[in-house]
Amino acid sequence: MTEKIPNKKISQKLIQIKKSFNNSTQVPNLLCREEEEKTITNFLKKSYIRLSQKSKKKKIKNLSLFISGLPGTGKSYTVQKSIQKFIQKTNKNPKKYDKKLQIVEMNCMQISDPRSFYQKIFKDLRLQNNTILQQEETEIFYSTDDENMDFEDEMRYLQMKFQKLTTLTPRKITILILDEIDTLSQFRDHQELLYQLFDCASQKNSKSFILLGIANNLEFTDKLLPILFERGANPLTLNFTTYSIDQLSLLIKQRISPIENYEEVFHPQAIELCSRKISKTTGDIRKAFDLCRECANYAIKQKLNCVTFQVMFAMINQLVDPKKSNLIDSLPLQQKIVLASIVLLSKNPNLIFQSEQIPFDSNRKKTKKPKKVEHNLNVNILRNYYISFCKLKKIDSISRQSFIELLDKLEGSGMIKLTQQKKKKSNIWLNKIDLITELDELEFCFSKIPFLEDEFNSNLK
Ligand SMILES: Nc1ncnc2c1ncn2[C@@H]1O[C@H](COP(=O)(O)OP(=O)(O)O)[C@@H](O)[C@H]1O
Ligand SMILES: [Mg+2]
Repeated sequence: MTEKIPNKKISQKLIQIKKSFNNSTQVPNLLCREEEEKTITNFLKKSYIRLSQKSKKKKIKNLSLFISGLPGTGKSYTVQKSIQKFIQKTNKNPKKYDKKLQIVEMNCMQISDPRSFYQKIFKDLRLQNNTILQQEETEIFYSTDDENMDFEDEMRYLQMKFQKLTTLTPRKITILILDEIDTLSQFRDHQELLYQLFDCASQKNSKSFILLGIANNLEFTDKLLPILFERGANPLTLNFTTYSIDQLSLLIKQRISPIENYEEVFHPQAIELCSRKISKTTGDIRKAFDLCRECANYAIKQKLNCVTFQVMFAMINQLVDPKKSNLIDSLPLQQKIVLASIVLLSKNPNLIFQSEQIPFDSNRKKTKKPKKVEHNLNVNILRNYYISFCKLKKIDSISRQSFIELLDKLEGSGMIKLTQQKKKKSNIWLNKIDLITELDELEFCFSKIPFLEDEFNSNLK
């Protein structure tokens, strides 16, 4: 069973298993999503043929596909695989597919306002086409915006440029992939932006654009789709259901199957239990991989010779309160980043010290380390750190006013406590920030969020 034996071979196998559950590890084959892959490649094929005007008979209603499904249902991965497959198909048959393809991919999570959304698309297209631009395209890409324009005028101008671009007849067909499109709903005027995008990719307008939008948030999907249909944008829709117990088991086994006799160190009963548990809660495949990785890690640390049913059971019970984990998962992006900044600063005094270079703190002796970090964490320190963190993550930071409002929201959801505190020897009052939730628990939750896991795995361990 799980007696302690110092077997090097076994611990190496467990290390390999642990690695295979890292988020960055990719498997070559798509499993359990064959139907969805077929739907996507078929959509791409029909749209391509429609745009290259090879066949006017094969009328399709739309050039946009709206993909929805809860997090961890394999949407992004299936889209990637389908695109690869479609590209291979076009390469194999250059006579039929004689127009070149270009892929523009954007994760909307990294966009801070509708303006930067268009600017990113233009930049990407310009870079891909720099040497072969048509005159009209050159005009669009290189025209400079009037600096005196107000936000609304500028948006209208950018939208017009985008619209014009989609109605040109260029040499290439563009597949625009917008992942996590639901995060656009953080903007006040996101609706106009979304309508515009789907309108541009409608059959009557587009001469070169195929749009693939992917959304995690089902509430967003439920609200958006009826409006799009009403406006005549008619995107094709594809929903990803959560993985079943058997599918989760299969996907877990696929990850470790290259490891010879993996069953000896990772029991099938443990995999079964993990699949059952995840299927009952979130159904998120990433959470299943996390659990397996934690088990392998535990076995390595405890010098066990395998991950058994009992080990899996113990780890499931040790896992964080799923309610809290879901709450953090569901926070909007900027709230996640601010809360993550608070956790990182609270945990690591060096970070707080580096972030404290603010004007009214210039009297403070820089060599003196704060004794207890939480007591020194105030809004200005946090904001400094938050801005540098956003830069690192290539995410635009929000204004000071929005930042303060956001802290109020975090306080409202019971994550932090804000207390007015007077700075020593000055008349300045600042909000002191304390975490209410257990630091370890938050740390664990954040280490499971893909775009934050680097910071949480390197800074906190
Ligand atoms: N059907 C699948 N076959 C193989 N690996 C998968 C499959 N579904 C998900 N994965 C793995 O799980 C990870 C998370 O899936 P992802 O596509 O990012 O989920 P979503 O976009 O729905 O949140 C992927 O990077 C991939 O490694
Ligand atoms: Mg995704």
